[in-house]
Amino acid sequence: MAGIAVVTGSASGIGRAIADRLAADGFDLVLLDINEEGVQKAAAEVAASGRKAIGLRADITDFPALTAVREQAVAAIGTPNTIVNCAGWSVIEPFMKNDEAFWRRAIDINLMGTINVTRAFIDGLIAQGGGSVVNIASDAGRVGSTGETVYSAAKGGVIAFTKSLAREMARYSISANCVCPGPTATQMLLVQDEKRIEALTRAIPMRRLADPADIAGAVGYFASPIARYVTAQVLSVSGGLTMAG
Ligand SMILES: NC(=O)c1ccc[n+]([C@@H]2O[C@H](COP(=O)([O-])OP(=O)(O)OC[C@H]3O[C@@H](n4cnc5c(N)ncnc54)[C@H](O)[C@@H]3O)[C@@H](O)[C@H]2O)c1
Repeated sequence: MAGIAVVTGSASGIGRAIADRLAADGFDLVLLDINEEGVQKAAAEVAASGRKAIGLRADITDFPALTAVREQAVAAIGTPNTIVNCAGWSVIEPFMKNDEAFWRRAIDINLMGTINVTRAFIDGLIAQGGGSVVNIASDAGRVGSTGETVYSAAKGGVIAFTKSLAREMARYSISANCVCPGPTATQMLLVQDEKRIEALTRAIPMRRLADPADIAGAVGYFASPIARYVTAQVLSVSGGLTMAG
């Protein structure tokens, strides 16, 4: 039993790798991203591998618009039993330089987006008698990250949201878990200063950045039937960087 998974942020990076992981595990996919061209390309690639997939433009900060997106997805593929909140946004900048628009963007995309998409799709999981929610938080939300202060607050919020959601959803056989990536080789990280990336890599006990597929493997676990009794957990996938966090 796999089912249908909705994956946000699936036009690129970790979300794109999650789409491949879940397709290989037998899921059909509803891929959402604000990058319409990218998400449609991702859906076409998944479909070529033999699973059903639709790629739709969605801004996860716009809750009313997500209702229409859900209806379109359900009509095309069916009702998802798995929600993966992966879309996110970060720019490294000292807190003292952030302005209010920056704070709001960090909270709106990383925290409110996760809440919006979960609320838009969770009724479908309840109606099917079970399912799983997997939220991509960050080790920044567990141990902090210099230059990502408001982002860390948002990701800490995602972790707390996931734990309370797990409490409320357990009666419906719905699990809710978090995956916390460490530094991962995607556009979000690779646009940063080369020296910062080198310093991060040296600090990682396994001496390399995560590959997006490393993160996707943990998502595949939480979304699979073997994890059906695992809920409210926070799993770091960081090559040992945060093993003492
Ligand atoms: N790369 C890392 O080092 C790292 C570390 C920890 C956590 N994360 C988290 O992993 C997740 C994926 O990040 P990534 O590294 O793949 O970055 P990425 O920039 O490659 O992917 C993020 C995706 O989210 C989409 N997105 C942004 N705003 C959106 C919106 N309003 N509505 C819909 N989609 C939107 C983007 O278009 C993009 O496709 C994020 O939640 C990020 O915070 C990344």
